[in-house]
Amino acid sequence: MPDNVTVVAHPLVQHKLALMRRKETTTAEFRLLLREISLLLGYEVMRDLPLTQVEIETPLTRMQAPRLEGKKLMLVSILRAGNGLLEGMLDLVPSARVGHIGLYRDPKTLEAVEYYFKVPQDLGERLVIVLDPMLATGHSAAAAVSRLKKAGARDIKFVCLLTVPEGIATMREAHPDVPIFTASIDERLNDHGYIVPGLGDAGDRLYGTK
Ligand code: URA
Repeated sequence: MPDNVTVVAHPLVQHKLALMRRKETTTAEFRLLLREISLLLGYEVMRDLPLTQVEIETPLTRMQAPRLEGKKLMLVSILRAGNGLLEGMLDLVPSARVGHIGLYRDPKTLEAVEYYFKVPQDLGERLVIVLDPMLATGHSAAAAVSRLKKAGARDIKFVCLLTVPEGIATMREAHPDVPIFTASIDERLNDHGYIVPGLGDAGDRLYGTK
């Protein structure tokens, strides 16, 4: 396993991922599955959130009970497919702040070009969880993380559904400090920068645009 990469091998994740990959899966099913998987990935990425003890009262007695210490969270969706992961994560942490980064891939160079950037201001005080279902060439992800660091983010994690060795290598080189969470490391990229076997274009499958 490459450094700082967690493959979430939970059977529910793997089962849902297989359903998402099938070309027969409808847009509605795909969207629901992505939302469900993002809950399970979120569970893993937030595994080490610090806890503190607070006194509470049950119907029977008083006790010291664990509660999230209050490390503030920020979820950042890389548009547009990142929004598919965002919904489920927000179900888990409804009070998280949300940022959006718009990047498109130049079809010739496959490099990321920014067209939108809107994030809450206090990035430096938050755990920033960056969301993009497909970590393919890694150019968009690396550009998004660089942009967030420039804006002040210091504690960043990256969550995707699928990646490939190329995407991991790009991220490892640009941002070795950023842990990656994924449901699968697929075989390779094709000549158009798509993940193989993959699941196709995540945005198109999520929104039915193809
Ligand atoms: N983006 C996608 O939506 N799918 C891929 O396979 C690669 C990048």
